[in-house]
Amino acid sequence: MPVVKFVKEQKEINVPAGSNLRTVALNAGINVHQGLNGIGASANRYFNCKGLGQCGTCRVNIVKGMENVNSPGMVEKFRFKCPVPDPIPALAYIGHEDTMRLSCKTVVNGDIEVETGPELDLFGENFFS
Ligand code: FES
Repeated sequence: MPVVKFVKEQKEINVPAGSNLRTVALNAGINVHQGLNGIGASANRYFNCKGLGQCGTCRVNIVKGMENVNSPGMVEKFRFKCPVPDPIPALAYIGHEDTMRLSCKTVVNGDIEVETGPELDLFGENFFS
């Protein structure tokens, strides 16, 4: 059974291969729905697209084990690359193109480590370059 480690929450859970990352996180009591650098996380817990890949609030960084998840599909790529109607997921994606995923569209096939609520770094050294 694959192990999913939530880095910020310091929680490890065993999940069946093929599990949906958002589902296993919510079942473990972990809120993957974040706002802007933590602001709005409590509201987004309830106001989200429920796994349709449209809101982008369930974005996470796969900090280890990216090879153990499925490849992003068209819906997920569109959500990260299209800044309308909500630009925050597209802005958050900048600089995290290789690690950021929508947890609702991520299938766990092996051990991974996950960072929920990755921070948006508007003033990071690479953001405007
Ligand atoms: S729950 Fe809305 S994009 Fe994942």
